[in-house]
Amino acid sequence: LASIEFDVSTVAEGQSVTLTWRGKPVFVRHRTPAEIEEAREVPLDDLRDPQTDAERAEKPEYLVMVGVCTHLGCVPLGQSVSDPKGDFGGWFCPCHGSHYDTSGRIRRGPAPLNLAVPEYQYISDTVVRIG
Ligand code: FES
Repeated sequence: LASIEFDVSTVAEGQSVTLTWRGKPVFVRHRTPAEIEEAREVPLDDLRDPQTDAERAEKPEYLVMVGVCTHLGCVPLGQSVSDPKGDFGGWFCPCHGSHYDTSGRIRRGPAPLNLAVPEYQYISDTVVRIG
């Protein structure tokens, strides 16, 4: 399928789901206000791949990203409450130890880039079309 549609309102605050799009995992996270705040407060100078949180999430509550580590392609942990999230509260790639923050931006470890944000748009208040 070239594109998929998903109703983000089905994800409770603080929860995540993993969709499949073009054979890849896509993470949708309904972020808490604290997670959004944390992402916004990071100075761009601290980032290896500088992107503001606003550039990465059209609606700040919902982060939509390709769940593939930009190092060598493992799937980072952090989607479920029991997963390790790494040292920056977001995601952790166990393959070689890359840490991503609450915006999915690379903060430590070998990965060169932030988790990719796929092309997407909201086609209603709550339904997003990815791809
Ligand atoms: Fe994720 Fe290497 S594949 S750190």
